[in-house]
Amino acid sequence: MKRNTNYDNLEQSYLFSTIGKKVNEYTSKNPDKKIIRLGIGDVTKPLCPTVINAMHKAVNEMSVQETFRGYGPEQGYDFLRTAIQNYYKNFSVNLELDEIFISDGAKSDLGNILDLFDKDNTVLVPDPVYPVYVDTNIMAGRKVLFSNANEENGFLPMPNNNTKADLIYLCSPNNPTGAAYDRKQLAEWVKYALDNKAAILFDAAYESFIEDDNIPHSIYEIDGAKDCAIEFCSLSKTAGFTGTRCGYTIVPSSLNKLNKMWLRRQTTKFNGVPYIVQRGAEAVFTHEGQKEIKENINYYKKNAKIISDTLKELGIWHVGGKNSPYIWLKCPNGMKSWEFFDYLLNNAQIVGTPGAGFGKNGEGFFRLTSFGSYENTLEAVERLKKLK
Ligand SMILES: Cc1ncc(COP(=O)(O)O)c(C=O)c1O
Repeated sequence: MKRNTNYDNLEQSYLFSTIGKKVNEYTSKNPDKKIIRLGIGDVTKPLCPTVINAMHKAVNEMSVQETFRGYGPEQGYDFLRTAIQNYYKNFSVNLELDEIFISDGAKSDLGNILDLFDKDNTVLVPDPVYPVYVDTNIMAGRKVLFSNANEENGFLPMPNNNTKADLIYLCSPNNPTGAAYDRKQLAEWVKYALDNKAAILFDAAYESFIEDDNIPHSIYEIDGAKDCAIEFCSLSKTAGFTGTRCGYTIVPSSLNKLNKMWLRRQTTKFNGVPYIVQRGAEAVFTHEGQKEIKENINYYKKNAKIISDTLKELGIWHVGGKNSPYIWLKCPNGMKSWEFFDYLLNNAQIVGTPGAGFGKNGEGFFRLTSFGSYENTLEAVERLKKLK
């Protein structure tokens, strides 16, 4: 056998293990100090009652001969696809049912979609970046180019006609920066993709945090996007499904042969998401479900606003904190990302994530998240104020 040696080209990520090690060292030396974790990238609120009830009902159905279900359709049950189809109508986006594919989350689909593309495609990803976009392409031996996200462009890089790319990753609202593209900016990317016959892989995992009208929830709100974009979305951050696992991917029929190819790929390599989970996901899109998940999202957003307002008060440059659970700040006094990490840990017992871990443009920046508790977030900002 010959193994895939592209794996040798992956960079090892020590980001979260190093954070863990440093925090453990600190707590063993300072057992009486209370650490506040504002680096959490996972939701902390439980599933909402409407989702739980729907899943309980589905569990009961599975125990009865007449309502038991075995294998479901690989691309998802129609009841869930219809719920998603209706959800997109809120954004004036019309989708056909066969353009919607249910999955076990956005991460799998973001990796799996690469089955549809030739190895010779050039890939463009923003830096800093959600590492999955880079690593999945390195594993396939593809060339990856980076577009620079920085303070000047508000961490929202725009297309550059001197850079030719075939596959373009966009994540808005963005992880790790929390920055979100407005309608005009996304229209520029769509135009660039159409002009260059490129495909946009649009990650909308945080769309439910959007509150500003000029920030699109879906790339299909932009004219022409159905001819160049695939959209990935997830119930992970929308409805607390990080452990329950359900997402969806939109592959428009107008997108060359990709819709049929993706159907073929999924029916060949995937056997669908559990019925019980899909019933829970369907409940997210009901009136009650939407009301309940919004309560959780608003809880996180309130935390984000507290952090953002405090940073403003302290004169610390940042993006995000609005339309997103993430806050991306410039480390004060020219500190480097890890220097600031140590400083915060030692002086305020706050744990965040060094921006340098997300790419070279992340150096000198730092990510805080709003997934902690309200009480801890309040205490953390009080500690930040005292530092000044
Ligand atoms: C930008 C982005 N896309 C996708 C995912 C993965 O989502 P899922 O849990 O649906 O696999 C995450 C998770 O943190 C994310 O930050």
